[in-house]
Amino acid sequence: MKELKHVAIIMDGNGRWAKKRGMPRSFGHKRGSENLRKLSFYIFEQGIEVLSVFCFSTENFRRSQEEVDFLMNLFVEKFQNEFEEYKKKNIKVIFSGRREGLRQDVLEAMDAISEGTKDNTGGIFHLCLNYGGQYEVIDAMKKVVASGIDLDTLTPEEFMHYFYQDLPPIDFMIRTSGEKRLSNFMLYQASYAEFYFPDTYFPDFDSNEFDKALDVYYERDRRFGGIKEQ
Ligand code: FPP
Repeated sequence: MKELKHVAIIMDGNGRWAKKRGMPRSFGHKRGSENLRKLSFYIFEQGIEVLSVFCFSTENFRRSQEEVDFLMNLFVEKFQNEFEEYKKKNIKVIFSGRREGLRQDVLEAMDAISEGTKDNTGGIFHLCLNYGGQYEVIDAMKKVVASGIDLDTLTPEEFMHYFYQDLPPIDFMIRTSGEKRLSNFMLYQASYAEFYFPDTYFPDFDSNEFDKALDVYYERDRRFGGIKEQ
């Protein structure tokens, strides 16, 4: 069977999900966060090693102050409340993104959950917050230069060790809500990923929807630019 170690999800459509119900965008984010909790547990139960999710992009700071505040409060609340559950389920929670620009209470909640789950071995839940893929490449490049290694010997695989987190490449990238863009999410790591764009808004992208996505993944041939896998 085709390898599937690393799944990435761009959780899009919370706002439209709420609007369709005549509710404020914040309601969609809340339902999206509840969905993420259940979906993440389901995904790790399927034996997937790494789940990366796009929680907040560097560009998302351009949204209204009200929405940014709501999301930041939601992150703090969720990291605090769900800490014990991730710990018990043996899932390690890690983050990528720039810390500068994030509120102190958000940073503290992030640090607490990552510190408290750092020895867990049952799956890696990778949350991208204040994250931009192009900045990640720039920040990695700065680290490479500072390390003083011989740049002529640097391989694409080695370069990935300098990213915010040292993770395997993405096998399967999902963006919900029918939008078909990468929006600066893990550009480098998605080089050979399969892409899947369901019309479903994120709050409705549940375990059944994920099973459908898996069917699509396993039906596809992955060639990595070479010959067909057997
Ligand atoms: C995109 O939908 C969604 C976001 C920018 C936020 C994603 C955040 C969550 C799902 C909550 C995660 C919670 C935790 C605890 C990690 P959108 O608002 O752009 O939707 P729209 O395109 O329909 O307007």
